[in-house]
Amino acid sequence: MVRVVESVDQVASAAADLVGAQLCRDRRTRLGVATGATPLPLYRELARRHAAGDLPAGELTLFLLDEYLGLGTDDPRSFRAVVVDHLARPLGIPDGAVHAPEVGAADLQQACRRFDALRDDAGIDLQILGIGRNGHIAFNEPGSAPDSGCRVVQLTDVTRSDNGLGPKDPTHAVTVGIGSILRARRLLLLATGPTKAEALARAVHADPRSPAGALSGHPDLTIIADRDAAALLGPAPTPTDGAT
Ligand code: GLP
Repeated sequence: MVRVVESVDQVASAAADLVGAQLCRDRRTRLGVATGATPLPLYRELARRHAAGDLPAGELTLFLLDEYLGLGTDDPRSFRAVVVDHLARPLGIPDGAVHAPEVGAADLQQACRRFDALRDDAGIDLQILGIGRNGHIAFNEPGSAPDSGCRVVQLTDVTRSDNGLGPKDPTHAVTVGIGSILRARRLLLLATGPTKAEALARAVHADPRSPAGALSGHPDLTIIADRDAAALLGPAPTPTDGAT
């Protein structure tokens, strides 16, 4: 299902409704969380609802998708730091309930197998996703297999530049594979802004050259996009949520 709304704030609000409904069904939800700029307004909205007493979140468990290799453990750009600062701490989720690939492990392949097993054993109830301009999801760049597992990947130049990485910053990351993402019970893909229009259209049309194209095969995929990101989706997407 694709929901098109007018603004970034409405994307955040519609997505927060969906996360809230999931939490009402199961307070011990296992939530897969994305980083990047796109989900931050959602995380702010969840924090606001929690502060207002409208979102019981203390029993949530969070599972990251990916992490840069080569950043210090206290580097604020690490995805764990972003998720802790923007989501876990504001929602009162303890550090021990935030799971991420162990990028400091001596044996990264083993660490990847452990992380895949951890996600699979827990069972991700709802996976939040953003999308890169080249269609990447987590750090599954174009060419990633639809059944790929957790692994070390080299980041493309476009992804490094979009993520503001300079010449001395990480060139590699650990990412969960598309296979693990597809095993989540529900997927929630967020896309905002005109730079995502092409990538979103290719995802919706299941373009096999786009990593996000694999998502359309999932039985429970919700896409929430603002008008700019939805601009190439075809004939006049009908506003469905608070649009004027
Ligand atoms: C990052 C993350 C992805 C994210 C994507 C888009 O590299 N690994 O999980 O969805 O890029 O980021 P943004 O939302 O900042 O455009």
